[in-house]
Amino acid sequence: MAEKRVAQIAGHLYPNGMLAGQVAIITGSGQGIGAEAARLFATEGAKVVVQDIDAAKAQAVAKEINDKGGKAIAVPGDMLDARYINELVKKAAEFGEGKIHIIVNNAGFTWDGVIHKVCPMWCFKWILWQSGNIE
Ligand SMILES: NC(=O)c1ccc[n+]([C@@H]2O[C@H](COP(=O)([O-])OP(=O)(O)OC[C@H]3O[C@@H](n4cnc5c(N)ncnc54)[C@H](O)[C@@H]3O)[C@@H](O)[C@H]2O)c1
Repeated sequence: MAEKRVAQIAGHLYPNGMLAGQVAIITGSGQGIGAEAARLFATEGAKVVVQDIDAAKAQAVAKEINDKGGKAIAVPGDMLDARYINELVKKAAEFGEGKIHIIVNNAGFTWDGVIHKVCPMWCFKWILWQSGNIE
């Protein structure tokens, strides 16, 4: 009952979705959290750039969104490659007719699978390692 009312109000406030007219790059959106974010953003009206190092997965997510009436392109590549990032931004800007509004910096990997298994000390060491403060 409450859910229906929320949907009804949201429909009045955002008839084309909460992200209508927005262009979003979601890195690592070939699977997992990124893919779900891509689907959600598209459902809310965003044009989604599906980015992933795994080209087949990125293309599959973009196709799924387009098949359901959303708007998406796949621009696969490695987020650690600076030249590729230039290409990603160029293609996203073309797709967005000159605009990119949102970047979800999601690409990465989870060592131990799920968040409840990741201990605070491990995260602390990871941050130090990433920042170059430990070898
Ligand atoms: N799932 C969790 O419980 C959890 C916990 C802590 C942090 N995270 C973080 O959240 C993010 C998403 O998690 P998930 O569970 O959906 O992960 P996932 O492994 O299911 O998906 C990550 C995606 O990122 C892509 N990717 C990895 N390196 C890349 C690169 N260099 N360039 C482009 N794409 C790349 C992978 O191909 C994959 O499709 C990750 O950054 C992860 O570290 C997740």
